[in-house]
Amino acid sequence: MEGYTKKPAVKEAMSHINIIKNGSIFIENGKIVETGPEEKIRQKYQAHLQSAKHIDATGKVVVPGLVDPHTHLVHAGTRENEYAMRLTGRSYMDIMKSGGGIHATTRATQQASLKQLYDESEERLNQFLLHGVTTVEAKSGYGLTLEHELKQLEVAKQLDKDHPFDLVSTFMGAHAVPMDEKDNPDRFVKRVIEEMLPEVAKKKLAVFNDVFCERGVFTPEQSRRILEAGKEYGLTPKIHADEIEPYEGAELAAEVGAISADHLLKASEQGIKKMAEAGVIGVLLPGTAFFLMAEFAEARKMIDAGVAIALSTDANPGSSPTISLPFMMNLGCLKMGMTPEEVLTATTINAAHAIGCAESIGSLEPGKKADVTIFKVPNYLTLSYKYGINHVDTVVKAGVPVVEGGQLK
Ligand code: NIG
Ligand code: FE
Repeated sequence: MEGYTKKPAVKEAMSHINIIKNGSIFIENGKIVETGPEEKIRQKYQAHLQSAKHIDATGKVVVPGLVDPHTHLVHAGTRENEYAMRLTGRSYMDIMKSGGGIHATTRATQQASLKQLYDESEERLNQFLLHGVTTVEAKSGYGLTLEHELKQLEVAKQLDKDHPFDLVSTFMGAHAVPMDEKDNPDRFVKRVIEEMLPEVAKKKLAVFNDVFCERGVFTPEQSRRILEAGKEYGLTPKIHADEIEPYEGAELAAEVGAISADHLLKASEQGIKKMAEAGVIGVLLPGTAFFLMAEFAEARKMIDAGVAIALSTDANPGSSPTISLPFMMNLGCLKMGMTPEEVLTATTINAAHAIGCAESIGSLEPGKKADVTIFKVPNYLTLSYKYGINHVDTVVKAGVPVVEGGQLK
């Protein structure tokens, strides 16, 4: 996967994975010094062998620590009751309109203490690690008031500090119009822009600014206003685009210069073309299509059109209650026409690009952070061939083993 640090891999380049058979990695001070054939590395770093910790990955597959570029990690509670309702025919948007959905998790998150929110999120973070993920993006958006949006972002910041794990934060005050503002959505948009954005920026609590641009939530025009305002504060736009209905979200992402447009289940041909031209990364979340029993995003078409694709769990309690990025790789192959090589690119270097971190993570290259995942499979094809199994054996974060033998250290 060398050579895609400056720009994400597109088209055929998404299939270029650089395999070293019987390879070795020499790591020092948390960074990768060199990768190459084992004999070569052993000879070159002979002098260090006595003092170095040696991890034997014989018969296993070693990949860059996986990167999840779209999660709603910090939230309280679960919504299995809505899952049961959907199984008998209620729709996701219908449940939300009647005060459930995002509103239900917002109530739970508002009521949760900082400690409860921290503990619940930490549990999920550990699960991510156990599934080979070493960096996640984490969105706010279940606070919907200044106080509670800040609370969510503070929890993400604290988790990032306390853990070897890396978190990259996104402000998503425009995740839903609160129930008590539903007759005056523009007033809430104004509040996001004038009350929340400046505080989030002042406290340096987020790098990105995301909006749920969807019929019945925020219109493309309202989304544009929020994303343009975020830019003024140095926050890079991201969009939940064309998830449930076609709504020109992909087009908007290209127009506002978003780093990524996410979901894209219903993205138009024109929108896909515009994204490719503008270099907007498509973050696809097949767990959401799976769980909402919807049609999957057209990854094959997007890759062929030149859109750089990344994959993510969308980890959240309503539309994708999972943390298994490897399962998203399975779904990418089986449901979205991607190849096993492409899904690896989409969960490593392209995912790192989608959160602006490709300079430091996403590939096993000299100088990058030594984030490494070792799967107990004989070859990378087996990762998605034997599905529904957690194949993670070892996870190394910044040079330190944090998972060994499939267990947290
Ligand atoms: O990415 N679409 C909006 N937000 C989330 C779902 C949030 C929820 O249902 O709690 C998503 O699908
Ligand atoms: Fe999401």
